[in-house]
Formats: sequence, C-alpha cells, structure tokens
Amino acid sequence: MKMKVFRRETFNAAHRLYNPNWTDEQNEATFGKCNNPNWHGHNYVIIAEVEGEINPDTGYVVDMKILKKIMQEEVCEIFDHKNLNLDVREMQNIIPTAENICVVAWNLIRNKLDTKLNLKIRLYETERNFVEYDGNV
Ligand code: NI
Repeated sequence: MKMKVFRRETFNAAHRLYNPNWTDEQNEATFGKCNNPNWHGHNYVIIAEVEGEINPDTGYVVDMKILKKIMQEEVCEIFDHKNLNLDVREMQNIIPTAENICVVAWNLIRNKLDTKLNLKIRLYETERNFVEYDGNV
C-alpha cells in the first residue's frame, strides 16, 4: 500500500534572474522585475512529497523528524537569508529561477533520502507561482 506524506519548510533568499550571454534589453524583456540589478527577495516555500510503503513496525512512510532534518540541513540552512546568485555554491552558474532552485533542492534531498522512497519537490516562489520536480529527466 503506497502512501504519500508531505513536509513544508520555508526559507527567504535574494536573487537576480539574469543571463550573462544576453544584452540588458533581452534580460529586462525576459525577466522583468526579477532582473533588478540590485537584487530582491522571495519568501520561498518548499514542500517535499515522499511516497512509499507504510512501515509495519512504525506505521510511518518516513519518520518526519528525519525528513525535517534533511530538508533543513540540505536546503534551508544553505539557502536561507542568502543571495542565491552569489552565496550558494550549489547555485553557481545557474539562473536562480524557481525551476532551477527546485531541481537543485530535489538533488540535495534525494541524496540523503532512503532509496526505497519516491520524492517530489514543490517550490513556491510566490503564493501564485510554483513548480514541481520529481527527478524525471
Ligand atoms: Ni524574483
């Protein structure tokens, strides 16, 4: 019997969406406000969706203490109150869109999660804009 469990965490971070291979005009036209040269921030919400069998010994799909610890140590502590363009090694040379942050976060969490469990990450950049990634390439 497969079951899904969810854990929500938050972090705040600054970024600028900017493609160094483009002119200022192209960047402005594509990225708009997120192209602001002096940076701006978002209150990100990250939700990990973990799917697996219920362990008959614990009644859990995954121990939420463990999932919480992985999300906090692998993502929140690395991204929170940072400039994603400048401060975060995992984001170097990556345009810090919600899509790309979500893929990086998925990989960081996946590396620490039991391989028997499926993982999907949903990332909200605003209340209205959000993305999902489940490892499919
Ligand atoms: Ni932005």
